[in-house]
Amino acid sequence: MATPKPQTPVVDIHTHMYPPEYISMLSSRASIPLVRTFPSSPDPRLVLLEAEVPALEKATGSGDANAPGTILPGRPLTRHFTSLSQKISFMDTHNISISVLSLANPWLDFLPANEAVSIARSINASFEEMCGAHPGRLYFFASLPLTSPLEAILSFITTALPSFRHCRGIILGTSGLGSGLDDPAMLPMFAALADANLPVFLHPHYGLPNSVFGKADYGHVLPLALGFPMETTIAVARMYLAGVFDAVPGLRMILAHSGGTLPFLAGRIESCLLHDAKFAGAVREQGDRRRTVWDVLREQVYLDAVVYSEVGLKAAIEASGGGKEGAARLMFGTDHPFFPPLGGPKGAEDGEWESVRLNADAVGRALGEGSEEAEMVMGGNAVRVLRLYEE
Ligand code: URA
Ligand code: ZN
Repeated sequence: MATPKPQTPVVDIHTHMYPPEYISMLSSRASIPLVRTFPSSPDPRLVLLEAEVPALEKATGSGDANAPGTILPGRPLTRHFTSLSQKISFMDTHNISISVLSLANPWLDFLPANEAVSIARSINASFEEMCGAHPGRLYFFASLPLTSPLEAILSFITTALPSFRHCRGIILGTSGLGSGLDDPAMLPMFAALADANLPVFLHPHYGLPNSVFGKADYGHVLPLALGFPMETTIAVARMYLAGVFDAVPGLRMILAHSGGTLPFLAGRIESCLLHDAKFAGAVREQGDRRRTVWDVLREQVYLDAVVYSEVGLKAAIEASGGGKEGAARLMFGTDHPFFPPLGGPKGAEDGEWESVRLNADAVGRALGEGSEEAEMVMGGNAVRVLRLYEE
């Protein structure tokens, strides 16, 4: 009798939490990111994005917020954002064996410089403790004290991070040290992360200016569906144009939301570069040695599979090299606790989430339900790339 094939674990590499000390910080803040309570809402509201500021001002500046049926700013701060047992129960409900946790946006980007290192130590220690409480099921991407002086950040990478046994990379926003990821000052940081074999999980937060979304209120749809992916796309294009990937060949990036729009726009980026006088000299001089955007996508970039459709996922796999090679660069994620089920019976949040099913179904449709490639995307790649078997 043939022995049954061991099941590849399902791994969620895009899943967030806010430890209690982070929520306490947000509760005492007067500007975003912040947590506010409203008499008409059973849960406090978590207000994170610039796009949510008009609704926040409306709700705090008038009596409207207490009228029944009023849409309050941000999102309800449910236990899904803060509770470890809720995370484990969400994993069990969705047959997720392993989660690679990360602090949700905007991470530590707003901290005063003199407090950043100590707060970063404590937040990352909370993640380490959560992982230690569920051996084999939880790992995490650490957050860096980016508002500290560069020397302190470098020392955090080389001395603090190795003490966290479950840390498998870092989560990073697009602002970097304040001037974006193409800032030459970022290079030592990227080099230190590459030396430590820690991939960068790049995640958006800042979106696009509110003005591009017009005056009408379409809720969160435009900032989240379009602003977030464009932010990621622009950040990585800037890194590519600045030569960051060539300068730090050991750098590995995992891009949220399947790379924003990069799989679709890489050809256009490449063509615009080839037809721009600014780059003509470098293109001529480098000749065949020049690495195209496609090369970088296939050599230094991984994409999560949080794109909610087979069409986007197929583009992501093609951009990553196509076939088995491309499928080896994609990793399943849920973006939990964002995008919970709305309406429905009380307790619907404790059941199956449609946002998770959309992403899992897209993998099956794009690669074949139960195929080797689908199993790689659902977990095998994460185990390999993030060394999820090592304690
Ligand atoms: N998903 C996230 O990760 N962050 C947000 O702010 C919204 C959606
Ligand atoms: Zn996310």
